[in-house]
Amino acid sequence: MLEVKNLHVRIKSMRGEVHAVRGIDLFISKGEIVGLVGESGCGKTTAMLAICRLLSDNAIISADKIIAGETDITNPDENSLLQIRGSRIAYIFQDPQASLNPVLTIGDQITEGIMIKDKSLSRENADKRAVELMNKVKINNPEIWLGSYPHQLSGGMKQRVMIAIALSNSPDILIADEPTTSLDVTVQSEILKLLKDLNQSIGMSIVFITHDLSVAKNICGRIIVMYAGRIAEVGSTEKIVNCPHHPYTFKLWNSIPRIDRDIARLEIIPGNVPNPLDLPAGCKFHPRCGYMQEKCTAIEPEPVSFRDGSAAACYFPVNL
Ligand SMILES: Nc1ncnc2c1ncn2[C@@H]1O[C@H](COP(=O)(O)OP(=O)(O)OP(=O)(O)O)[C@@H](O)[C@H]1O
Ligand SMILES: [Mg+2]
Repeated sequence: MLEVKNLHVRIKSMRGEVHAVRGIDLFISKGEIVGLVGESGCGKTTAMLAICRLLSDNAIISADKIIAGETDITNPDENSLLQIRGSRIAYIFQDPQASLNPVLTIGDQITEGIMIKDKSLSRENADKRAVELMNKVKINNPEIWLGSYPHQLSGGMKQRVMIAIALSNSPDILIADEPTTSLDVTVQSEILKLLKDLNQSIGMSIVFITHDLSVAKNICGRIIVMYAGRIAEVGSTEKIVNCPHHPYTFKLWNSIPRIDRDIARLEIIPGNVPNPLDLPAGCKFHPRCGYMQEKCTAIEPEPVSFRDGSAAACYFPVNL
């Protein structure tokens, strides 16, 4: 469904050039839910926005290969972007509050994408389709909500509307950027269940971006862990949860409360995520890593594959 090789994103800012994504490879198969996990600022959003070419002009994007379905979008023109946006890849943005237009009704916002793609569709039929989509995302009494404005909706409802908009052109892949972060736990689990149901009923692949490994664990079949613009580790959820190999993944787990484990004290990962304008030499995690040796300070490690199917960019992987 989606294949990305060696994606780099450099963002020009007032303080200098931020190399936000530093050579990542992704492979998303049909029907799978993949978690893209990492601390704030590690480049999750930038990487996915770059693939969809939704970054502003100050971002320089380069890749050896980006293929969505059968469409090569490594160096896309406007036409191929129009083809893939909405129908191949749909994006739910990080903040539903800011992503909905406050002066347009919910119905208008859900139907906008459908009417752009099908210019012959009547208003009446577009509204029917909007009602169908609202039913799909489990909004009760959709006819009543069609004429409402975003401020009249709760946070969970807004997120459902965002999902309905994303589904409007039947995408093959849905990129859901922190879709549950601003919601309380009950609504959070309802949205997770909705995404899982949609994945199973329509076979849509999902890239689920989150900073929370425990949320990713509940919904994803595979997890990609990012650190400082690169992939630290990738593996099945079962392996990432029970047998992480990168010390960063290992430490992340030990810093999260888990009901399946009895530990007296949660660990803290010492230090902070490095400043992207002043990255350390070698492995970018080495200043915070308890397993660091001299080699780690010199050259950044490349990913190494293990027999259990995981891969980690580390000279001294754990749990082998
Ligand atoms: N427009 C911009 N100008 C300058 N730097 C930027 C810009 N957009 C992103 N960055 C930088 O790129 C890096 C990656 O940011 P990004 O938003 O992709 O991280 P993220 O993993 O999605 O974090 P979060 O979990 O907070 O959403 C950060 O260091 C950020 O400061
Ligand atoms: Mg983000």
